[in-house]
Amino acid sequence: MPNLRLDSIRTLAKEHLANAYAPYSRFRVSAVVVAKSGRAYVGVNVENGAYPLSRCAEQIAVGAMITGGDREIELVLIHSTSSPPAAPCGACRQVISEFASPETRIICVNDAGEERRFTIGELLPATFKLNEQQ
Ligand code: THU
Repeated sequence: MPNLRLDSIRTLAKEHLANAYAPYSRFRVSAVVVAKSGRAYVGVNVENGAYPLSRCAEQIAVGAMITGGDREIELVLIHSTSSPPAAPCGACRQVISEFASPETRIICVNDAGEERRFTIGELLPATFKLNEQQ
């Protein structure tokens, strides 16, 4: 993916961070899922007063991708405010894996311009995929 395109994905994530609904944790997260089609889908974390109902940004973004008709993830960029930039939680790794290959890139960034790069295979090796069990 050209750097120019990656810059616009970074911008998209940063622009949406303020929309995160995180009154309980005060930890805002924004995620951009780029599908193989080239389309980009954004999600932010949406918390709930009944805490376990809170949803991570990555899961909202994956849901938007499915709603938009895409099925294959090229890259996920996650913007948070922590240093080092937050990596996806275990549940999000599993949700991303459903629509990813082990090489799918996960890029974690923050306001300070720090960046951590992984593949989903590194973050969740030996992932569970039901369609590969049968
Ligand atoms: N959060 C995410 O949105 N993505 C992650 O991968 C980790 C955590 C959110 C959930 C909750 O709203 C807040 O960050 C603090 O855990």
